[in-house]
Amino acid sequence: MKLKKIITILLTALVVTSANAQKQNVKKIWNDVEKQLSILYKESLSNRMKQEVFPRTLHNDSLKLVSSGDWTSGFWPGILWMTYEYTGKQEWKTKAEEFTALMSREPKNRSSHDVGFKVYNSYGQAYRLTGEETYKKQIVEAAATLASRFNATTGCIRSWDFNKWQYPVIIDNMMNLELLFAATRLTNDSSYYKIAVSHANTTLKNHFRPDYSSWHVVDYDTITGNVISKSTHQGYADESAWARGQAWALYGYTMCYRETKDIRYLEQAEHVASFLLNHPALPNDMIPYWDFNLPDFKTASRDASAAAIIAAALYELKNYSHQKKKYKKAANKILANLTKSYRATPGTHKGFILLHSTGHKPANGEVDVPIIYADYYYLEALLRQQKK
Ligand code: GLY
Repeated sequence: MKLKKIITILLTALVVTSANAQKQNVKKIWNDVEKQLSILYKESLSNRMKQEVFPRTLHNDSLKLVSSGDWTSGFWPGILWMTYEYTGKQEWKTKAEEFTALMSREPKNRSSHDVGFKVYNSYGQAYRLTGEETYKKQIVEAAATLASRFNATTGCIRSWDFNKWQYPVIIDNMMNLELLFAATRLTNDSSYYKIAVSHANTTLKNHFRPDYSSWHVVDYDTITGNVISKSTHQGYADESAWARGQAWALYGYTMCYRETKDIRYLEQAEHVASFLLNHPALPNDMIPYWDFNLPDFKTASRDASAAAIIAAALYELKNYSHQKKKYKKAANKILANLTKSYRATPGTHKGFILLHSTGHKPANGEVDVPIIYADYYYLEALLRQQKK
């Protein structure tokens, strides 16, 4: 046999062996995930109150459940749907259906932009995996609710109805546009799409600094459409880069490129990725501190949720970008480190998967704890890693 042929056979064997090893590793991770989620499911049932049924976080080691009105409610049904997707087991589908049904008030809830997070991560996943008409109806209803928060003068959707601002728009709101794009696909009514594009363009213009980091909150004047202020709510300072905000921007513009093929969105996602991946304050393990501009990182907490969102986003961005290898490598590293060093030992932490997320540090809320949305994007990243 010629040497070239022998080398080819050996290399092929090596690739097949390492692919099999990776599959086994992923299977083992999902076994642990299933163990944890079985615990979280039981804990959620045994601690439930009238309205508070959705697991959100741990507070002093006790499970904190929230009602469907909370912005995080949809992540739990979404987690159950993704577990069904990987395992194909009926038991996870039944659990996912059970908790999705408990979201039924939310498609009509106009109280914040979070209708996107709530409904797309629950009913959206349900519809993606089952194609059932009833889920489709809820998605379209929710899109109409979100669209009712759009103002043509500002060119964007209002995020919150509380606090000191006139018309606050937060970078997180980019995530909710996925619901609008889906509604146009489902109904052929282009109005949802147009609102999403207007919001994405306005955010592109006003939310980013020259280094492509983003402000958290931009407040608009509803008479003139002008920007009143740029500030933070959950970050360290008005001029700092709050880690999860940057992650929402990366994920949001990647998704907008998928939906529109507008090259400006792809370029924006690539710029945000560069900001994140080249930042001197990004630790070696690539799990960011909760803000990139802290005066002192020694005692600062990490935000595993931001890392999980970044990994999930990079797995998608790699499919559209010339920098495929770089993004894939970065996403793999983040996911490997979350898996190796940020997971709860199976059987602990009431069934949450990831430790060390930071929700709202300035208010001392949910600092260095498990949080449900970290687990959601971790599972999404795991699934996306397997899709070539
Ligand atoms: N959307 C709220 C947060 O990221 O904390």
